[in-house]
Amino acid sequence: MTQLKKEPLKFAYWVPNVSGGLVISSIEQRTSWDIDYNRKLAQIAEASGFDYALSQIRFTAGYGADNQHESVSFSHALLAATEKLRVIAAVLPGPWTPALLAKQIATISQLTNGRVDINVVSGWFRGEFAAIGEPWLDHDERYRRSEEFIRAVRGIWSEDNFNLRGDFYRFTDYTMRPKPLGDLPQVFQGGSSRAARDMASRVSDWYFTNGNTPEGLKAQVDDIRTKEKQFGKPWRTRIGVNAFGIVRSSEKEAQELLAEIIDKAIPDAVKGFHHEVQNAGNSSPEREGNWAKSTFQDLVQYNDGFRSNLIGTPEQVAERVIGLKRAGADLILLGFLHFQEEVAYFGKHVIPLIRELEAEEERTLAAAE
Ligand SMILES: Cc1cc2nc3c(=O)[nH]c(=O)nc-3n(C[C@H](O)[C@H](O)[C@H](O)COP(=O)(O)O)c2cc1C
Repeated sequence: MTQLKKEPLKFAYWVPNVSGGLVISSIEQRTSWDIDYNRKLAQIAEASGFDYALSQIRFTAGYGADNQHESVSFSHALLAATEKLRVIAAVLPGPWTPALLAKQIATISQLTNGRVDINVVSGWFRGEFAAIGEPWLDHDERYRRSEEFIRAVRGIWSEDNFNLRGDFYRFTDYTMRPKPLGDLPQVFQGGSSRAARDMASRVSDWYFTNGNTPEGLKAQVDDIRTKEKQFGKPWRTRIGVNAFGIVRSSEKEAQELLAEIIDKAIPDAVKGFHHEVQNAGNSSPEREGNWAKSTFQDLVQYNDGFRSNLIGTPEQVAERVIGLKRAGADLILLGFLHFQEEVAYFGKHVIPLIRELEAEEERTLAAAE
């Protein structure tokens, strides 16, 4: 395992802008997708040491997500209700064009003191594309389009008289004003396939991946580091990993809650989700990617969040977070059953322990120098 990097870990939470919570289970979830709940949650999160909120983009129902607020406008509402929190708006090339997205985000950036970022997702839900009349490209073509999308958006944000002759998008001497405020919005991306890792190694600021063990995460990070060199990327891709947090005062309580979530899983919905996600990395030439190895239990949480094993006491969870950091994580993305209560609990009982462990590691490294 590599040594801890000096920068403190960042924390993000999933914005519940989609109904049904983050697990496909009939267990009670004291989480609401409405704006009042979400505004309060964002305020709790920024007061609890969270750096980012990540919104989701979905156009249709499926597997419990019966209602879905749109990500960019919802992100703006959360930014307007907070002061420090950065909000990452999920966007899907296809429904969004780079011209529209660049303009929307520049305006939001101007209105919110430059606190908006984007998460470019490439699509896994074929039925959703069919429902809204969007052509469904092959897996690797979706990533080729996303990469061009990112190049276009960044070009519009940073250049005057921007030109692009791409396979998907064209720009001719385009000058967009105003530009985003301050530093450019950060570009996140989601996915774990070979195409996703290649795209991250060329153009993205951040690589978001599904929940995983430290070993599973490290293999992806090593691949990205090798490819960054190969492609001559001038900056280091930062890494965010998903986790579903179940932090309780005893390990037994946390494990019992996990067992209850799984026991109350909605089998047909989990199986339907499993069937659908085969359109993602499992249909790529390498059959890698998010969900390629997911079991029934993993899929009860949409993004394999149980695999990161942040399930236990605050001390156990803090140690495991450090394990993920050693494996290369710069950011931990968290989902919870009862968001408001658990974001506050995580901020109060877990983040301080993580900061202590990070400081301890720094002292050890300094002493060894
Ligand atoms: C943290 C994270 C957030 C994501 N958010 C969304 C989303 O809001 N909407 C969406 O359609 N897909 C979302 N995805 C799915 C990805 O864009 C992608 O389709 C999926 O991970 C499969 O990618 P792969 O085939 O490269 O592994 C997300 C993925 C991750 C890891």
